[in-house]
Amino acid sequence: MASPKKQRTAFFCTQCGAEHARWQGQCRECSVWNSLIEERVPDKKKAKSRPGEIRKQTIAEISSEKLSGFQTGIAEFDRVLGGQLLPGMTVLIGGDPGIGKSTLVLQAAEAYSRQGLDVLYITGEESLPQIKMRSKRLAVEGSRVTVINCTDLEEITSVLADSAFAVVIVDSIQTVSSGQFDSPPGTVGQVREATNQLVTLAKAQGFALILIGHVTKEGMVAGPKVLEHIVDTVVYFEGDSSRLYRVLRAVKNRFGSVAEIGLFEMKSSGLEEVVNPSAFFLSGEPHTPRTGAVVAGVCEGHRPLLVEVQALVTPATYGNPQRVAGGIDNKKLALLLAVLEKRSGYPMATHDVFVSVAGGLRLTEPGLDLAILTAIASSLTNKPVASDMLVVGEVGLSGEVRAVANIDKLVSEAAKLGFKAMVLPESNRPNLTNDQIELISVRDLQSALDRIIG
Ligand SMILES: Nc1ncnc2c1ncn2[C@@H]1O[C@H](COP(=O)(O)OP(=O)(O)OP(=O)(O)O)[C@@H](O)[C@H]1O
Ligand SMILES: [Mg+2]
Ligand SMILES: [Zn+2]
Repeated sequence: MASPKKQRTAFFCTQCGAEHARWQGQCRECSVWNSLIEERVPDKKKAKSRPGEIRKQTIAEISSEKLSGFQTGIAEFDRVLGGQLLPGMTVLIGGDPGIGKSTLVLQAAEAYSRQGLDVLYITGEESLPQIKMRSKRLAVEGSRVTVINCTDLEEITSVLADSAFAVVIVDSIQTVSSGQFDSPPGTVGQVREATNQLVTLAKAQGFALILIGHVTKEGMVAGPKVLEHIVDTVVYFEGDSSRLYRVLRAVKNRFGSVAEIGLFEMKSSGLEEVVNPSAFFLSGEPHTPRTGAVVAGVCEGHRPLLVEVQALVTPATYGNPQRVAGGIDNKKLALLLAVLEKRSGYPMATHDVFVSVAGGLRLTEPGLDLAILTAIASSLTNKPVASDMLVVGEVGLSGEVRAVANIDKLVSEAAKLGFKAMVLPESNRPNLTNDQIELISVRDLQSALDRIIG
């Protein structure tokens, strides 16, 4: 006698999707604490065998008809997607709640629509009047943007099966669920199933798919990381909601560079491209020299970006000295301080150090090292740094200043913005010429500090 089949459950990590047989406090894969929740394990689908359906083609035979993509014309958006959206391409846009994801995709939808493309915007979070209200504020006409309010996966796939949209947007993937599972929307199983089905349809029918995923710090909802391996391109929309600028950053891209970023400013009329980012992040007017402030240059992807790095160094009163970093990694700061103490003899262990990148940008480029160290040394010694000087270079553990990528772009950006001098790694010096700016090449940390604040 067959007993009723018992549903198998397992514990899934809401951050990375890893499956665990038993509950544990910390995820085995991504080491996040308290991220496991119990869910039903989806039944293995019966393998559908459809003999003879698979087409075998050589690369030369594959039609290149579907290779021409579409652009929004919003340069900051297109570049991050690898230049264009291709038919069948799947994109995940992740971001914190309220950061502006719906605004971004609505503006992109309008741009595609104006190019004559049919767009389907599936919203599970907002009512149609709410979408209309936002559209009015953003001056979105949406003559070719069809909006449906739907969260049922089967309904969505049936709409898609008998229509021919060029671009399909799902806002957000965490609201979509399949009636075939009884786990609630937003769980790892539901979110993965919905994504898999939509991605398969996108590839089969050739529409470009844009999924929005909320970043969730804790709780029951599966975050976008769970889906990163399923889609072609993953971008995160980030920024500080208390500030106006937003950064679109590609973290995975099957069709383009991942180093690219796009910069926007949030206005009441919507997101506006930041066309001249260096001018945006440098506080405008040429300022008087200050101690602890250094202008640094980094290349994020192909674009040069000049930002101000600030440091404040004060004697530590008791106990462990404080290290607080804004915009750069704390461990990175600790490492740089160790190099500064060891290679240049500054007494860092007896000082509190606060470092921040002005504007609150989060930067990971090693080319920022020398500017951070210069700002710290300047604050410690109370010696100002010339405000028309740019400092660029990676600093190694033995204090050597290493070459950075795309230095020529930084030189011309600095010259364009009126900087008079630029400190750069000696190994970057050959073949560089610019008669508007003095190029000062340095080999190691000590000689750089001697030259800048000596
Ligand atoms: N009238 C307005 N004027 C200026 N800015 C506004 C206005 N209304 C909304 N915003 C901005 O838009 C942001 C919300 O944008 P949006 O709804 O696109 O974000 P989201 O990431 O989709 O949010 P959610 O997580 O709720 O889906 C707000 O944080 C605010 O900065
Ligand atoms: Mg939204
Ligand atoms: Zn995990």
